[in-house]
Parts: sequence; C-alpha cells; structure tokens
Amino acid sequence: MEIAKIGAGANGGSNRLTLTDADRDARELFRSWAAAAGCSVKIDAVGNMFARRPGRDNTLPPVVIGSHLDTQPTGGRFDGVLGVLAGLEVVRSLNDQNVETLRPIEVANWTNEEGARFSPGMLGSAAFAGVYSQNFVHSRTDESGKIFGEELQRIGFAGDVRIGGRPLRAYFELHIEQGPVLEAEHFDIGVVTHAQGLLWLDIDIVGFEAHAGTTPMKRRRDALVAAASIVAAVSDIAVSFSPNGVGTVGQLRVHPGSRNVVPGAVSMTVEFRHPSEGTLTDMMARLQAAIDQISTQCRVTTRCTEVLRYAPVEFDRECVDIIRAAAERFGYSHRDIVSGAAHDACYIARIAPTGMIFCPCVDGISHNEREDIRPEWATAGANVLLDAVLGMAEV
Ligand code: GLV
Ligand code: MN
Ligand code: MN
Repeated sequence: MEIAKIGAGANGGSNRLTLTDADRDARELFRSWAAAAGCSVKIDAVGNMFARRPGRDNTLPPVVIGSHLDTQPTGGRFDGVLGVLAGLEVVRSLNDQNVETLRPIEVANWTNEEGARFSPGMLGSAAFAGVYSQNFVHSRTDESGKIFGEELQRIGFAGDVRIGGRPLRAYFELHIEQGPVLEAEHFDIGVVTHAQGLLWLDIDIVGFEAHAGTTPMKRRRDALVAAASIVAAVSDIAVSFSPNGVGTVGQLRVHPGSRNVVPGAVSMTVEFRHPSEGTLTDMMARLQAAIDQISTQCRVTTRCTEVLRYAPVEFDRECVDIIRAAAERFGYSHRDIVSGAAHDACYIARIAPTGMIFCPCVDGISHNEREDIRPEWATAGANVLLDAVLGMAEV
C-alpha cells in the first residue's frame, strides 16, 4: 500500500510508467527497504535491480525471486508489485527466524515489464536472458520520442553491473492471476505450468487527408475507416479462436486528429495470444488476409510490423513440482493453470529453472485501477514462495 501511494491514480490504482519519476520513487523505496533487511542492492545497465541476501556459500548461483514495480497507466496495486514485495517478505522472514541458506537469495525488480511506455514489454528480463542487447534496450523510444537510455540516466538507475551472463539456480515469481479462474473455483493457489504465446504488431495505415465538408464519400481514402474494419477483424478472428484465443487493439493514433479533416493516417497496435504457437500463426495469417482486403477496399496502404513474438512457455518440471508440494504442505487448495498474461518469468525460463505461483484476484480484474486481492491470498502465495525458495536454496 505504501508503494501504491507513489503515482497514485484517481481510482485507487497506480500510474508508474517505466522510468518516470514515480518509477524512480518506487525503486528508491524498494532499495531502502531491501537495505534495511540487510541486502546489498546492485543495478545492471538496463536498470534491473537485485537485492541480495548472502548465503553460506556465496560462490554458488543464487535463487532469484522477482517481478516488476512498473505499472500500466491505469494499473492496479498488485500486478508485479506483489511478486517483488513477497520476495522481500521472504528475506525478512528468513531474517526473523535466523535462517541461513546455503545459496544466496536475490530479489529482482525487472525494468519495463509492462511495455506500456517503451515497447516491447519485459525488456529488462529479456535482456538479462540474452534476448536483446543493451543497445537495443537503450534505443527504445516512447510516444513523445524520449529515449530509454536517457530516461534511465535521468532517474539515476543506469547501473554498472553487466546484464545477465550469470547462472541462477532457480527463479520464482509470485503474481496475481489477472483472470477469474482461481477465485471462481475457490482455489488458494494456481500452480502455473505454462504461459500462452503472444504476438504484438504495429500497423501503420496511410490514406489521404482531405476536407471533411467538400470531399464526396466516394473519393475518400479514409485511414480511420480502414482502421475501424481492422479493429473489427481482430476481434472477429479472436472470437473464432475462443475461448483460448484473444485479440486486442489497445492503441490508435489518428492523424491529423481534427474534427473536419478526413483522417490521412492511423497507427495502431494489435496483439493476439493463444496457448498454441501454430494457432497464433493461423490467427496472424487470417489478419493479414483481412488487412489486404480492407486496404484495397479503402484504397489505403498498410504496413504491418512485428514488435514482439514469443512461443508458449513450459515452466520447469522440478520448480512446478516444488510449488505444488509446497501448496500441499500448507493445506492450500490448488490447481494447475496456464498463464494468460506475459511475465518476466517467461524470459527467465530460457536461462534458468523457473516456476510461477498465482494467487486469485477479485473478479479477475487487472490492468485496471480496481484490481484487488485479499490479504489471505497474498499470505498463501508468499508462504508457497518461501517454501519453494527454501527448497532450492539448500541444494
Ligand atoms: C503483461 O502485463 C501482459 O501484457 O501480459
Ligand atoms: Mn505483471
Ligand atoms: Mn501487467
């Protein structure tokens, strides 16, 4: 609740877009709490933060717990924040109980998970996993043209630690489900076995600007009319692949954006998600066919650029088993679940044994300021996290 006050939204949530002053203030608060818990805090060259609790043998690869402190522009208080602060709570609990672990334990705050200000999302964890270079990350720009590398410097979080390139014994992430299943079915814990695949596109449509009063309808090349048809096509395609397929247009920029000018250009985003990679490819092919037809009909030119694609993820069997066994030991009701959302864990899974724990959220609402959870759900998730971490920190 303290972190949620930073960048507090009008409707009870948070607005802490990546590398803004609010992001900086949340990072500072996390750093001070981690230091108070006896951790040393290191920051890498893309701003990923690692709070480290030493083990008995500090030459061994650590067990890492993590998630993100950045939010959507109208984000909730728990998406990401829960996972980072539960990590800190694990450290505090071990301190309180005077438990020494064989391996060091680190709590990570990954930079730019949401991808709301700088695209693509999960930039920090992807860079750590070797998917993107430092230069690629630093050269991302936001809508106003501000550059990631400069903004990182500006908020004072361009660290000197090299990005990734070190082994982790295991990685665990606790996250709210962000969907309705666990609450509706009365489960305390979701044991995340997979995460669905995802495809992000940028679409640029160019028509012709014209006077809205004098240009007959037949002569128009209206980019927004084409965009409207593409929005409908995205939804229709996703519906035809439901319940597993989903599709969204979340951003639309209309040029020149004047009431009495026929829109000459539109930029828009599209995302599709599905647990099967082959089906994602089918969804994309259907969209491309629709775009070709719409472009001809509306006499516009359309360019489609892939911004992010990743295949569905299968989490590490051993980590998944440890999480399930931990839930059993505490007597929590649990079920296996596929993550609909993307997470930093999806990239870290490429380089380290990785597991995810879900806790329910009220009405499945997320990416919304009304996002909410119950304290006992957070407690159960954090207990399972502690147990899973301890299991890996001794071997
Ligand atoms: C992350 O928030 C996502 O888009 O799944
Ligand atoms: Mn998240
Ligand atoms: Mn999110």
